[in-house]
Amino acid sequence: MAEFTLPKNSRVQKGRHFPAPGAKKPRTFKIYRWNPDDGQNPRLDTYEVDMASCGPMVLDALIKIKNEIDPTLTFRRSCREGICGSCAMNIGGTNTLACICAIEDVKGDEIAIYPLPHMPVVKDLVPDLTHFYAQHASIRPWLRAQTPPPPDRERLQSKEDRAKLDGLYECILCACCSTSCPSYWWNGERYLGPAILLQAYRWIVDSRDEDTGARLDELEDPFKLYRCHTIMNCARTCPKGLNPAKAIAEIKKLMLARKL
Ligand code: SF4
Ligand code: SF4
Ligand code: FES
Repeated sequence: MAEFTLPKNSRVQKGRHFPAPGAKKPRTFKIYRWNPDDGQNPRLDTYEVDMASCGPMVLDALIKIKNEIDPTLTFRRSCREGICGSCAMNIGGTNTLACICAIEDVKGDEIAIYPLPHMPVVKDLVPDLTHFYAQHASIRPWLRAQTPPPPDRERLQSKEDRAKLDGLYECILCACCSTSCPSYWWNGERYLGPAILLQAYRWIVDSRDEDTGARLDELEDPFKLYRCHTIMNCARTCPKGLNPAKAIAEIKKLMLARKL
């Protein structure tokens, strides 16, 4: 399971307790609360939720808390289907997506929920992903070609070439992997991290892309790529079952191959 450390600049205090008297199937959630603008320290609020009237996923409980118990609780979500990546957070010590994390699968009497580790916090469970998105933009994640496309159709791929994108195209940029990576915690300003490197590899191996050499040149840097030490937290935590460490290893192999 992904190691957890508290987000930057936080000293968490015991917070408020919201009991659920008369609940038929109570479950306890301890949720990180912090508004950097109000001058208060972070705290952990405790919410008891009646599972008899709650959906099965952690996101269902968060929505129920916000709708019925405490409207000030702040979190991101959109699709509720594990597709948009916006509900990524640390649940029971693991970075994952709240909408596809079953409450009954989280061990322990209490379910602890924190924002993604080692990221600045906007409020409560919402991390600031500005730098993460800027790193994604820095690899120029689109098809780069010098030749014009065929006049009468799109650029085609063989089935074999298309299959090389399996295990890569499914990435939803949720940041669960990068924020579970110790190298990214300590060098995140310069190390691109597993999510962005998986995305970089997705374009490097795309048979339609014609900028492979430049893409590798751009990654040939002691920090951008080579801070991966194969700790594998990224692969263990990815809620889509992807393996960013393998993608990073493939980039390193290509780097070596072109030197030989
Ligand atoms: S590789 Fe997995 S954990 Fe990382 S950003 Fe993509 S979907 Fe999320
Ligand atoms: S394998 Fe590399 S990218 Fe993945 S967690 Fe370890 S150091 Fe980070
Ligand atoms: S709400 Fe979209 S991935 Fe969870």
